[in-house]
Amino acid sequence: MAPSADRRVTMATTAIVGTGNIGARLAADLVDGGQDILVASRELGSARELADRLGEGATAVSVDDAVSRADIIVFAVWFDVIKELVARYGDRLKGKIVVDPSNPIEPDGQGGFTKTIPRDQSSGVVIASLLPDGARPVKAFGTMLAGTLRDAAHREPERAVAFYAADDLEAGATVADLISAAGFDPIRVGGISESLRIEVFGDLHEGTLGTQPTADEARKLL
Ligand SMILES: NC(=O)c1ccc[n+]([C@@H]2O[C@H](COP(=O)([O-])OP(=O)(O)OC[C@H]3O[C@@H](n4cnc5c(N)ncnc54)[C@H](OP(=O)(O)O)[C@@H]3O)[C@@H](O)[C@H]2O)c1
Repeated sequence: MAPSADRRVTMATTAIVGTGNIGARLAADLVDGGQDILVASRELGSARELADRLGEGATAVSVDDAVSRADIIVFAVWFDVIKELVARYGDRLKGKIVVDPSNPIEPDGQGGFTKTIPRDQSSGVVIASLLPDGARPVKAFGTMLAGTLRDAAHREPERAVAFYAADDLEAGATVADLISAAGFDPIRVGGISESLRIEVFGDLHEGTLGTQPTADEARKLL
């Protein structure tokens, strides 16, 4: 029997690790979009606070539980922390879709940002290379500022695009469903090697484009 329209339907379990700007915003967009999610933080208190704020649909768990229970893990933490978590959880990430929203940047001391890795490298490729065989990396949710993830979600009359990169097309399609649930039109830019285009300083990043394209506009940019 088809589920009723007002029932929450979540096929895979999604965990958001990190309750900062991106983690909290993405969690809110997904719950608004009808997804049941796990939210995790290193101190359970901040995940509990976020889950309480979001209400039905969000459950607070430890990072360890998130890794055990989720099929899709969004590491909404800084690049170096993702590297630490990937090293810590290692083979437990096998079979999981690991979503990396990171931008490898730091303040440049002059009011701007500078990359923490060579300009021609992407954190997407670095993180994918550190994952165990069998983990399924997807680069997503790092192309817009957290404020834009809030303001442009469910834009009318035409939705804003959120780009993603994935080698594994099925994993990419699963994350594309999350992007849709969060209120954006998903567009795949290519494999993980294309991550550079959608990270800070890339030609498809919000900071370069200065706008959030529609799907038609975005396809012309690919
Ligand atoms: N902010 C943006 O607009 C934006 C846009 C695009 C992409 N991104 C990317 O999104 C990621 C998160 O950025 P953000 O702005 O959300 O950062 P943030 O506000 O500083 O939040 C970082 C989160 O990481 C958590 N964390 C730190 N170390 C941890 C650990 N060892 N285990 C578990 N959680 C840990 C922090 O928890 P505590 O509270 O316990 O420290 C905090 O919840 C970064 O990679 C960034 O490049 C950000």
